[in-house]
Amino acid sequence: MCGIIGFTGNEPAKDIIIGGLERLEYRGYDSAGLALLSNDQIQVRKRTGKVEELRKLCEAEKMPATCGIGHTRWATHGGVTDVNAHPHRVGKVVLIHNGIIENYRQIVTEYGLADQLVSETDSEVVAALLNKFYEGDPVKAIKKTVKVLSGAFALCIMFQDIPDTIYAIRNVSPMVATSCERGSVIASDLTALIEFSKEYFVVPEYHILTLKKDGIDIQDLKGNKVTPQMLTVNWDITSAQKGGYPFFMLKEIYEQPDAIRNTIAPRINQELPDFTEDGIDDAIFKDCKRISIVACGTAMHAGMVGKHLIEKKLRIPVHVDCASEFRYKDPIIDEETLTIVLSQSGETIDTLEALKLAKNRGSKVLSIVNVKGSTIARESDYVLYTHAGPEIAVASTKAYTVQVAAMYLIACRIGLVKGLITEHDAKRFMTKLTNASNIVEETLKCADDIKRVADHIKFATDTFYIGRGLDYTMSLEAALKLKEISYVHAEAYAAGELKHGTIALISENVPVIALATQEDVYAKVISNIREVKARGAYVVLVSMDEEVNDPSICDQHIRLPKMDSEFTSFATAVVLQLVAYYTSEAKGLDVDKPRNLAKSVTVE
Ligand code: F6R
Repeated sequence: MCGIIGFTGNEPAKDIIIGGLERLEYRGYDSAGLALLSNDQIQVRKRTGKVEELRKLCEAEKMPATCGIGHTRWATHGGVTDVNAHPHRVGKVVLIHNGIIENYRQIVTEYGLADQLVSETDSEVVAALLNKFYEGDPVKAIKKTVKVLSGAFALCIMFQDIPDTIYAIRNVSPMVATSCERGSVIASDLTALIEFSKEYFVVPEYHILTLKKDGIDIQDLKGNKVTPQMLTVNWDITSAQKGGYPFFMLKEIYEQPDAIRNTIAPRINQELPDFTEDGIDDAIFKDCKRISIVACGTAMHAGMVGKHLIEKKLRIPVHVDCASEFRYKDPIIDEETLTIVLSQSGETIDTLEALKLAKNRGSKVLSIVNVKGSTIARESDYVLYTHAGPEIAVASTKAYTVQVAAMYLIACRIGLVKGLITEHDAKRFMTKLTNASNIVEETLKCADDIKRVADHIKFATDTFYIGRGLDYTMSLEAALKLKEISYVHAEAYAAGELKHGTIALISENVPVIALATQEDVYAKVISNIREVKARGAYVVLVSMDEEVNDPSICDQHIRLPKMDSEFTSFATAVVLQLVAYYTSEAKGLDVDKPRNLAKSVTVE
């Protein structure tokens, strides 16, 4: 949440910063701003709205400075106003901040800062405190300041009288940095760094970075110099561009076959799942008696697919919690519980805190993460990286399907290690899993049929997704996706549950999207469909039936390719993503940047 970038180098910083903010915009798009430093002068420009507004604001201005910082905001403290936008300047200090300073009110009182503040933000308080402590030595002032702060922060700071230099420090909130012949650059994530270099490092917590055009100095709070551990990005700038698609979300939906292949293929050895290269010790599978899955939102829904699979196939009890609840419910976990954490960004704060809690209770933590070197990956005992590449659209699509694929791999490995499935069965399972990418490719061909569904849904105020078993799990994700990007209210219901209350909401033309891909409960779902159809619902049936010509069952039919019931999640995922996408597009919305949201939720 909130995108930050800092650049000092040999070229004008303005365009680099605005370009970087455009790439980081999915982290927040309430307002954007930049500060440039040259000749002992700081220029600040900021305004509400998307980065485009900032670009317009600065367009006509000649700004030759080669050192600057920029920010795109997702509001936490203080409304969406120009004044609350970052950067914040107090005296000689100007800064940008991602995170939340929990004790900012106490700081204002304790250090008498109130009369220096013009905004309602916690971030400006940090600028005021730094300015108070600053007596010509930036590092000293930063050390004094961070001792006072509690909460999460990633800060990039410039001092008016220190030319061409950016200082940075973080706790929890992510930052990555690199330097190359063009200069030194720091950002909240890799999408803004990749045009500079494929080599980068994750900024260590509570270390002070001094960025100059010819390199980055890192020191800990005791003043010891630190050499960072360099990492290499395994995707390139084209992955972070739309590549001809109108929205990132559509591009990412179409990238799914490759993302699934890239995630599964490296983990197959002699037709069986194998995590040796990932360094995952089979003992965590062998020793576990139960599994606890923790994640947020879409990632949690991927975990629910895992629960369904593991319980049905292996008969091991699995509990799924959303991380924000897990943290405060005194969860029942111990050394015999394997905790599986899922996160695309690897930075979601609730998931991170849940992970720490699970570790404290003696549970081993295996995380499924997309972003290499992210905090959740680093804090976990073991990591299974998904290889979806960067996901830019706020609504998660390809990251979800690869998380699901990872859950299938893990389920199969657990079954093998515990002797719950034979090698022969595991090989058959893996053959079907390997085919998931082809199934997704095949399902993408239904796009035109799905567009017609969206043409109906776009007029609705309420919609329902129903299904049983695996289809119910998929309905939860379907409803979230539709709400999130099309603002159409959607609810997911276990098909048999509707008549216990919610069916009262079904009336003429209310869309009900019925998922009926599970062979064992197919007939039951069809009965439930008849119940809503009889009450006037507009039914879209998603199933593997070759043809459905019975108007007492459905108004539209989306036909999925034939496959084993156990693997329909991949095909269904594509349908639900495209329904949401086309509905949002048909309503003329900004599909990639739905209102009130941001990617990577680093606040609790
Ligand atoms: C919805 C969506 C969110 C994320 C959730 C967790 O489309 O993207 O629900 O799944 O915020 O994010 P990560 O996976 O980064 O931990």
